[in-house]
Amino acid sequence: MATTIHVLVGTMSGSAEIVAEDLCAAITADSDHQAEMLLMDDLDESVFERDGVFLICTSTYGQGEVPDNAVDFFKAVEAAKPDLSHIRYGVFGLGDMAYADTFNFGGKRFDDLLSSLGAKRIGVRAQHDASGPDAPEEAALLWLKDWLPQVDAALRDAA
Ligand SMILES: Cc1cc2nc3c(=O)[nH]c(=O)nc-3n(C[C@H](O)[C@H](O)[C@H](O)COP(=O)(O)O)c2cc1C
Repeated sequence: MATTIHVLVGTMSGSAEIVAEDLCAAITADSDHQAEMLLMDDLDESVFERDGVFLICTSTYGQGEVPDNAVDFFKAVEAAKPDLSHIRYGVFGLGDMAYADTFNFGGKRFDDLLSSLGAKRIGVRAQHDASGPDAPEEAALLWLKDWLPQVDAALRDAA
């Protein structure tokens, strides 16, 4: 069953946006699904009224915070507390093990928030390490190969 995968991007210096562009291109090329990239800057909780599956693609800044362009969105969802029990989502997080105590907390914060509102994650939360050997786009495309079949299985289960 084909759906739209909404890729919501939290980024400070652009890596997560490049990753999201590559993810959208691969989703469109390698599956029946549509993909749409949305920077988090202007989003609020109403984005979850869209049909489809959500993919949070975010880095981490400060001391384990979400990036600046994600702060207002995060706070809006936290304050509105929408019922997200119908929502399925994945998380591709970007971080750096140089910040070991808060490694990939941006993705973790979104994961914790969405699951606390009833949304159900598909697959494992990816945690890219900028200090590691792999470029984030390469890691993301590998992760996607594993994630997309799990999206299909989740959609079949829900049908
Ligand atoms: C000032 C600063 C603070 C950071 N803080 C964290 C952090 O707390 N935890 C983490 O895992 N990564 C942290 N990072 C690493 C970034 O999340 C990582 O470099 C990421 O790939 C950047 O992606 P972006 O270009 O999409 O923002 C930090 C980077 C900078 C420059």
